Amino acid sequence: MNGSIARVLLLGRKREYPFSDDEISQARQISSQLAIALANSLSVEKLNNLAKGTVEALARTVDAKSKWTSGHSERVSALGGRIARAMGLSEEKVETVIRGGLLHDIGKIAIPLAILDKPEKLTDAEYGDIKNHPAIGAQILEPIKAYQDILPLVLQHHERYDGSGYPSGLKGEEIDIRARIMALADVWDALVSDRPYRHGWVAERARKLIINETGTHFDPQVATTFLALLSEEMGLEEPTSERKTSSTGAI
Ligand SMILES: [Fe+2]
Repeated sequence: MNGSIARVLLLGRKREYPFSDDEISQARQISSQLAIALANSLSVEKLNNLAKGTVEALARTVDAKSKWTSGHSERVSALGGRIARAMGLSEEKVETVIRGGLLHDIGKIAIPLAILDKPEKLTDAEYGDIKNHPAIGAQILEPIKAYQDILPLVLQHHERYDGSGYPSGLKGEEIDIRARIMALADVWDALVSDRPYRHGWVAERARKLIINETGTHFDPQVATTFLALLSEEMGLEEPTSERKTSSTGAI
């Protein structure tokens, strides 16, 4: 490739007689076809790596805005991917959950840091600003054709299963399943991480909140899958459900 040797193809046969001119020309054709295929696959791999790196860089741009959210998007992406896979979603969908997780909060780029990092309770106007970040995120990504498939995740990750979320108040299966997964992964990571207004919760306390808000904030199927994964990880018994509502602090 480009005058250099990338691979060597060895052809032989058991019986000892020379290759005919025809066979040699066939072997040349095979090796040049293989060289072209190899060059193409390396270009595709390079492009894929570039696209993957770009998404990760964008995610880090969002998280770097505030010290409180460092690594949040990458953790939400990884957890969302695990839940999606455990729920049996196709690999293609799992991959969009992973990419969507990285970019779900990209709209926060447009929200002032003074609001994002405010330790006190937000005013209604400030909360109104925050609520714009899913739509802003979708607007930012909209011109990129390759990201069309993750727009619903970005736009709907603050919708709640009972219809009380934002920006559209979608309910149940009106919410893209990948956004329902993202909602749980997002809240979980927000709960167990430190925030300007509180310390990160211990896993057991966060787990209780997820159980309490199953069926209201969270899709029961998503929550059940997540809790099973968590039990496996923590070596816990499967939880029994009890219900009450409370604020999660995930914005
Ligand atoms: Fe968000």
